[in-house]
Amino acid sequence: MTMLRLRDVGVRFGGLVALNDVSLDLNRGEILGLIGPNGAGKTTLFNCITGVVQPTQGSMYFEGRSLRLVPPHERARRGIARTFQNLQLWDSMTVLENLEVPMDAVGRRNTFSDALGLPFSGYSERAARERARAILHVLELDGYGDRLAGDLPAGIQRRVEIGRALAMRPKLVLLDEPAAGLDARETERLADLLRTVRERFHVSLLLVDHDMSLVMRVCDFIYVLDFGKVLASGDPAEVRNDQKVIAAYLGEATPELSAGEPVPELVSGENPEVTAPRKEPGEVLLEVESIAAGYGHLEVIRDVSLSVRAGEVVACIGANGAGKTTTLRAISGVIHARTGSIRFGGRDITGAKPERIARMGLAHIPEGRGLFPRLSVEDTLRIATDTTGNRAPLDLAYDVFPRLKQRRRQAVGTLSGGEQQMVAMARAILARPRLLMIDEMSQGLAPTIVRQLFRMIDVFREQGIAVLLVEQFVESALEVADRAYVFEHGSVAHEASAEELRRDRNLISGSYLGATADETAAIAVASNGHSNGNGHFPHPDLMEVVSMRMPAALKRALEERAEREGRTVGALALDLLEEAKR
Ligand SMILES: Nc1ncnc2c1ncn2[C@@H]1O[C@H](COP(=O)(O)OP(=O)(O)OP(=O)(O)O)[C@@H](O)[C@H]1O
Ligand SMILES: [Mg+2]
Repeated sequence: MTMLRLRDVGVRFGGLVALNDVSLDLNRGEILGLIGPNGAGKTTLFNCITGVVQPTQGSMYFEGRSLRLVPPHERARRGIARTFQNLQLWDSMTVLENLEVPMDAVGRRNTFSDALGLPFSGYSERAARERARAILHVLELDGYGDRLAGDLPAGIQRRVEIGRALAMRPKLVLLDEPAAGLDARETERLADLLRTVRERFHVSLLLVDHDMSLVMRVCDFIYVLDFGKVLASGDPAEVRNDQKVIAAYLGEATPELSAGEPVPELVSGENPEVTAPRKEPGEVLLEVESIAAGYGHLEVIRDVSLSVRAGEVVACIGANGAGKTTTLRAISGVIHARTGSIRFGGRDITGAKPERIARMGLAHIPEGRGLFPRLSVEDTLRIATDTTGNRAPLDLAYDVFPRLKQRRRQAVGTLSGGEQQMVAMARAILARPRLLMIDEMSQGLAPTIVRQLFRMIDVFREQGIAVLLVEQFVESALEVADRAYVFEHGSVAHEASAEELRRDRNLISGSYLGATADETAAIAVASNGHSNGNGHFPHPDLMEVVSMRMPAALKRALEERAEREGRTVGALALDLLEEAKR
C-alpha cells in the first residue's frame, strides 16, 4: 500500500528550480532509495516532505491524507521523522536526553504536569526513558546513554540521530546520508541495522546516500534525481545498469573512459615554486615526532610520528576513532600537541597559532568543512586568496567546480551538502598551499565528483604540492597515494608504500578488525591495542572509568602491566576493580 505519494512536486528558490515535477511512491514497509548528483534536490525533497520548505506546485499525501498546509510538528505527529545531513544533535545533552526531548515534542509528556510533578508525569517519564533505552539497545548503543552527544565520534552520532528520529514513534523515517563519515565496516553494519530497524519498529525508510555499497544493498527500490527531475527509477540492479544514471551520477568505472575527462589546471604558472613538475618527492616538508594530543582529560593520540616530503601524497587510513582527524588537528594547530614536536618547512611549529601555520603554506580542510554559513561563495573564496596574499583568480577554482560559479552569490549555508564540500576544496586550492591536509574528501560527494577529485590530487603532486589525506575510501586513497600510515588505537601501527599496502591487504584489514566499529578513540585507548580481532570488547562501564577518569600515566601503567601479564587491559582492570571492592 502506498504510504507516501508525491505528484508533480516543484520547488523554486528565486530563479533556481530545485525540484521540477517530482512524482514518487513509497510503500509501507519499504526501504526506498533516493540518489543523484550533488545539488540534485534530494535534501530539498526531504524538506518538502517534513514541511520545512513549501512546494510551489504539486501534491503530497501521507497515508491517504493531504499534507498541504500541514505544519511540520503536525507531520511529525502523523509519523514522519528525519535525520539531518549535517548532524544536528544537542551536543551538551546526553544521548538519552537527546532521545527523550523529541518524545516531549510529540506530546508523550506534558510540561504542565511535569511542572506540577503530577503522577502522570513520573509515569510518562519512566515510559519515555524505557523506550529510549530500548531504541539504544536495538541500535547497539547500550552504554552510550549517559555520554554527552557532542563527545562522540561522528559514526556514533549518526546512529544517535537515527535513534532520535525513532523516539518520535514514526511510521516513516527520512535518512539524509546516514553513512557519511562512516568507515567501510561501519557502513556494512549500518546496512544490517537499517533492516533491523524496519522490522523492529515497523517503519518505512526513505534513504539518501552517496555510498552505493549501502544504497544498493538495502534498498528495495530506487529513484534517481538529476537537476530536480526524476531521471530514472527501478530496483537496484536496473538502476545500476541504466546508462542515463551511469552518465549523470555513477560514472564509468573503466579507466579508458575516465582518463579522457579533462582535468583543469589547478595552479597557474605565476608561482615559481610550483611550476616545475617534479616526479620524485623533494625534501622533507612536514616532520611530526612522537606527538600526543587529545581533548580535556582524554588522550586520543600518542607517540604519533610521520613525515611528508614536498610533492608527496601520503594517506592516513584506519578505522574511525583511530586518531587520524586528531592528528591533522594537532598539525594545523587547532589543538595543541601535549608532547613531541612538529616541524614544517624547516621551522618548529609546535604550539603555533593556526593562522600562522596557514600563512606558512599549510592548508587544512577539516571534516565538517569549517565554512561560514552566511558568507557567499564568492566572498568565501576571496577571503582565502586574501589571507594567504596569493591573489589567484577565482576562475582557477571555478574551472574545477563550474557549479560554484553558477552559485557564486548564494550563501554557503544554503548550498547542498556536496556543494559545500566543493567550496572547502576550492578554498584550499586558491590558497596554493605547500601542503594540503584533507580530512574525508569524499564525504557527501557524488561518485563522479569523488573520482574527479582523486585525479586532482595527482595533479597536485605533479605541481609539487604535497597532500596528506585522511580517507575512508581506502582503495581510492591507496591508488593515488605514494605512502600510507595505518592508524590503530591512537597510534601509527604500520607505515608502508601504497603499493605494498595494495598488495598486502592483511596489513590494512587488521586495523579495521581490531576495533569494533562503535569504539570511540577514547575506548580504543582503554583497550589493549591488540589489533587482530581477538573478540575482546571492553565492558562499557569500564570504558568510562578507564578512558575518561584515569590519568594518562596510570592508564599507561595499566597497559604495561596487562602486556607483561599477557592479558587484555579490560580483563586486568576488571580484576583490579573486583579486588578493590573486596
Ligand atoms: N535556501 C536556498 N536558497 C537557494 N538555493 C538553494 C537553497 N536551498 C537549496 N538550494 C539549492 O538547491 C539545489 C538543491 O539542493 P539540495 O540540498 O536539495 O541538493 P542535494 O540533492 O541534497 O545535494 P547533496 O547530494 O550535495 O546533498 C542546490 O543547488 C542548492 O544550492
Ligand atoms: Mg543533500
